[in-house]
Amino acid sequence: MEIPLVVADEKILKSKHYVCAKMPDHLLAIESSCDDTGAAVFTNGQLASNVVFSQLVHELYGGVVPEVASRRHLEAILPVVKKALQEASVDKSDLTAIACTRGPGLMGSLMVGYTFAKSLAKALGLPLISVDHMKAHILAHFIEEPKPAFPFLCLTVSGGHTQLVIVRGFDHFELVGSTLDDAAGEAFDKTGKLLGLPYPAGPHVDREAQQGSPIFSFSTANIPGHDFSFSGFKTSVLYFLREQIAKNENFVAENLANLCASIQDNIVQTLVDKCLVALQQYSISTLAVAGGVSANSGLRKALQEEASQLGFELYIPKISYCTDNAAMIGMAGYIDWKNGKFSSFDLAPDPRLRSMY
Ligand code: KG4
Ligand code: ZN
Repeated sequence: MEIPLVVADEKILKSKHYVCAKMPDHLLAIESSCDDTGAAVFTNGQLASNVVFSQLVHELYGGVVPEVASRRHLEAILPVVKKALQEASVDKSDLTAIACTRGPGLMGSLMVGYTFAKSLAKALGLPLISVDHMKAHILAHFIEEPKPAFPFLCLTVSGGHTQLVIVRGFDHFELVGSTLDDAAGEAFDKTGKLLGLPYPAGPHVDREAQQGSPIFSFSTANIPGHDFSFSGFKTSVLYFLREQIAKNENFVAENLANLCASIQDNIVQTLVDKCLVALQQYSISTLAVAGGVSANSGLRKALQEEASQLGFELYIPKISYCTDNAAMIGMAGYIDWKNGKFSSFDLAPDPRLRSMY
């Protein structure tokens, strides 16, 4: 039987409602919390492009210089957004929503992305969705398959944070542990700096560690419960190096790979031990890892070994979704948008944002 074609009334075809129901939705996401300028596009909830400009200039100063970071964001934001739109084959007039990191992060850096997002949303008459950077790191696990099932324990390890969070739903987070001082990424960066490695030292320590063995031991903080502490470890590396260099000024150059392997081993062991205790205590059988340090090959390997021995499920996203990126901001923003959670245009960036718990 031939199915008759239904020709829609021209009025309905032109109405906004009809267009919204039939047209794809395109969400633009922007990230600028620290030293990476990112933009991504989600089309109908699927990632269509993900562009990141990483500010290498901070290597010259051995750490992120906030004033320099915000100036670089200013230069990069427009080309990065244009590239993300181009790669997704989306024109700015096709956009249906804009999501942006509101915090936590550096005020000057956040200000650039957030002001840009607000202005664009206002100019195009689009809803604005404010995103918590830490929540976005966790929701990066939902950008691509396979996705963890709730509840899961998430270890978020970045340059500024080290947290253990029980994730019971897209909007149900329980913080069970966090660092009392330095973050795990900071521990990599600061001890790597003592070895003369460029900023950020984490990836350099990782690369060197692959050629060495963990033959040196440093002190590890014995913090009860699920909290972390890395400042004593950092001091112990400093004192050890001072002592060795006083005896042999070439000590670091002659032992770089073994020193890196020992530093990495110490940090990884602390992270793995804390995860295993929390999994057991909360009877959770799924572990997810997020944040820049989850790119660490030693951490990935150690957790994979534990997962296959103990039988828990392990989720670690692609490296490009682990370090700062706008795809994760888009994922978190998309979920909020579909749940009708929009932001007022009166909101300002919040460097200490803590919206999850
Ligand atoms: O999540 P992220 O990109 O930015 C923050 O929100 O902080 O994390 C950056 C941190 C830096 O401390 C960097 O050294 C560390 O992640 N990192 C690594 C590796 N890749 C990035 N640490 C150890 N091994 C790596 N392969
Ligand atoms: Zn981050």
